[in-house]
This record gives sequence, C-alpha cells and structure tokens, in this order.
Amino acid sequence: MSLLSAARDIREKAYAPYSKFKVGVALRSVSGDVFVGVNVENAAYPEGTCAEAGAIAAMIAAGQTQIAEVAVIADAPTPVQPCGGCRQKLKEFSDADVRVTMANLDGVSLSMTVGELLPGAFSKDQLDMS
Ligand code: THU
Repeated sequence: MSLLSAARDIREKAYAPYSKFKVGVALRSVSGDVFVGVNVENAAYPEGTCAEAGAIAAMIAAGQTQIAEVAVIADAPTPVQPCGGCRQKLKEFSDADVRVTMANLDGVSLSMTVGELLPGAFSKDQLDMS
C-alpha cells in the first residue's frame, strides 16, 4: 500500500467534530516502518493535536527517530500543507530532503521537501546543549 493510501485510509478515523476537517498522515521511517496519525480535536480548542503530531508520536513510541517520507491528506480544494508547528515537528526528525506529499481527496497532490516547507528552520544545532 502506498503511503498516500495509508494516509487516506487512516483519515477516516480522525476526531474532528469541531472543525469537521479530518486530516490523515502516514510517514515511513528510515527503517521502512509506516506510522499513521490523525488530528484529535478537543472541546478546549487549543488542546487539539494535528495528524502529523500523532504519526510522529507513534514513531517515537516505537523507538524510531528518523523520517524517510511523509504523506498528508485532507478534504480540501487544494492539497493541504502542514501547519507551521507541524513543519517544525517534522523537521526535528527529518533531513531537509525528506519528501512530503500533500493531497486532497480528488487526487490533486503537491510534493515538497521538508527543507522547502521550512527553510531556515530552528534546529537543535542552535541550542547550547553543553
Ligand atoms: N490539521 C492537521 O491535523 N494538520 C495540518 O497540517 C493542518 C491542520 C488539523 C488541525 C485541526 O484539527 C484541523 O486540521 C483544522 O485546522
């Protein structure tokens, strides 16, 4: 199954009763494992989490930290791009050349790298961790 198909399938399980905007994400780690996530909203709106965060959390819980490829899908007129916070979250675990495929349910898609989505990202290299 393609990464985009996995994202499309998991999207059905999104919990988005407030925005009604269901998002599905599938990511492949460098080990070849696929992790999926959906957005999970909350009656206290800011407590909601994005689909990207869910997929990343699943990968981390499995003991993996390096993303190889990402697919994001939602029902929108144009391919849905990760929000700013999710670009930063993806960057933490991705090299700049990791490809992100964004799509809508009509089959329109857009492909960009993590580096293109978040040029000049803040990174752990800038932290003094001594
Ligand atoms: N959303 C995601 O899950 N990922 C994105 O990249 C964009 C936005 C969710 C958050 C919220 O539940 C809904 O879409 C509307 O913003």
